[in-house]
Amino acid sequence: METMDIQRGNPWKQLAGPVIAPSLLASDFACLGQQIDILTATGIEVLHVDVMDGHFVPNLSIGPPVVKSVRAYTDLPLDVHIMVTDPAYYIERFAEAGADSITFHIEATNEPQRLIDRLRELGLGVGVAFRPATPAKKIADLVGEVDMVLVMTVEPGYGGQEFMPDMLDKIEAIRAMLSSGQRLEVDGGIDQKTGRLCARRGADTFVAGSYILGGKDVAGAVHALTRAVAGDVGRTMENL
Ligand code: DX5
Ligand code: ZN
Repeated sequence: METMDIQRGNPWKQLAGPVIAPSLLASDFACLGQQIDILTATGIEVLHVDVMDGHFVPNLSIGPPVVKSVRAYTDLPLDVHIMVTDPAYYIERFAEAGADSITFHIEATNEPQRLIDRLRELGLGVGVAFRPATPAKKIADLVGEVDMVLVMTVEPGYGGQEFMPDMLDKIEAIRAMLSSGQRLEVDGGIDQKTGRLCARRGADTFVAGSYILGGKDVAGAVHALTRAVAGDVGRTMENL
């Protein structure tokens, strides 16, 4: 259980190398604590939390009360991906609930810089995400301001969807915009094979829901994905 004096803070400043971020959306919510214990035992360093408001995406998922319970249960950094129409309102709620990093969608706001500044004030990690149809250039002006860019490799809203290979060029384009201290996260349809393809194009943070929690061998899946991306992440970073 977490002790109160733990300093929450920007996890992306503390993590090095490839990061596997299991998505809790694929969890059995009837035994979420046990699922977190199983994941923790595999050595993962971050938990990915998908927040859906039933408006920005056609699905409803996790709210601040669940994040608050998860926060009280684990010390693992919480990488909160908010797929909501009103990110400015929800940033405050999820910061209070215990998020360590919040990633909002560029399509959901006309004032991304204000959101970034607010997340910095709160001392949280800052990520910006974009849907498959949104071009890379949409974030060109603010890319230097964030810790991480999340490239959706499926249409946001559901787990268990097919990976979109036409996102690979976008990953490469985004990588070229980022400095070596910034992260590139991919999310949707990530498994051993698609994870490696993304690593070769510059991804270094890999969200996986159904691949990790949908099967019987959670540890096996985490280790297979870790091995699959490890070599390529190193090589891509060297070319920067
Ligand atoms: C989808 C979410 C993803 C999803 C990933 O909108 O952002 O994080 O849970 O699940 P898989 O890995 O099953 O595609
Ligand atoms: Zn996500």
